[in-house]
Amino acid sequence: MHRQDFFNRLLPSKLTPDQSGQAYAPSNIALSKYWGKRNHELNLPTNGSLSISLAHLGTHTQLTLSDDHQDHIILNNIEQAITTPFAQKIITFCNYFRRQQHIPLTIHTTNTIPTAAGLASSASGFAALTLALDQFFALSLPKTTLSAIARIGSGSACRSLWHGFVQWPKGHLADGSDSIGKPLDVAWSAFRIALLEVDTNVKKISSRDGMTHTADTSPLFSLWPAQAEKDLQTICQAITCQDFSVLGQTTENNALTMHATMLAARPSLIYIQPQTLSLLHNIQRLRNDGVEVYATIDAGPNIKVIFLQSQQDDIKAALSPSIVIEPFAHHKYNYT
Ligand code: PMV
Repeated sequence: MHRQDFFNRLLPSKLTPDQSGQAYAPSNIALSKYWGKRNHELNLPTNGSLSISLAHLGTHTQLTLSDDHQDHIILNNIEQAITTPFAQKIITFCNYFRRQQHIPLTIHTTNTIPTAAGLASSASGFAALTLALDQFFALSLPKTTLSAIARIGSGSACRSLWHGFVQWPKGHLADGSDSIGKPLDVAWSAFRIALLEVDTNVKKISSRDGMTHTADTSPLFSLWPAQAEKDLQTICQAITCQDFSVLGQTTENNALTMHATMLAARPSLIYIQPQTLSLLHNIQRLRNDGVEVYATIDAGPNIKVIFLQSQQDDIKAALSPSIVIEPFAHHKYNYT
């Protein structure tokens, strides 16, 4: 199915804009990774994944009608040239909604993720844009449908519609309606995630391209989907029974297995840097000394560590994280 047909099936043929639409969505980090697509048009994955949302670190998006008949894209209060890849991605996504209608938009998007944090903002960005478009066109689509729509912008965005732990099953249906975010009804107040910065420059190879290259050329990729599904099951169970050791060890193994598939790609896809490896060794040493801390790495060199509150002082002293996030700190969040 083509992307536009997917949108046509979900949206009314004619849209009526409201005064404005605004929304917030948190960013998320996968503990069990999405890597590989079974359908490129609809961003359907070859394996399920599970993430933790980053609470107040995410994206605020506001939409209004432009008064000069042009689209305007403003990122963190700075207007972006319409030709930039960032602006083009947003406009293309809005066009799936607008189709032939002339609805010029002014889109203000503000990331609360520090710009130099090395955390991807595409997940929260597309989730917030989807929610804001839903409001702006008074669609009131169910959250499950909004998750499927956000997935078209960026696969991991389908998990950013909720706080807390969110699962994204692989699904089996051709239209992807069974491959959407599903929040876990679990609040784990002692759970922490922190960022260890290695290099915060924009990466040269996007997740999208890296995934395709790995799936197309890595001799290890055929082993990945089954292992990733197994890890996902283990992680879900560990969350349910709050077994942090199993959760942490499986999370770290899962990320390093994903990186092994990339390293085996031809040519090799190397997102990690020397400092990434050196930090991984430090983390192992800390564990040998009895500090329970585990790493995960996305398509980049930076490390995110997970740990429990009781270990926070030791981890701050040993690893100097730039940000420590308490995903369950705010009771106002609705996890389901
Ligand atoms: O959603 P994308 O296309 O940015 O891909 C995300 C890929 C990883 O961050 C490496 C894994 C994940 O599940 O978030």
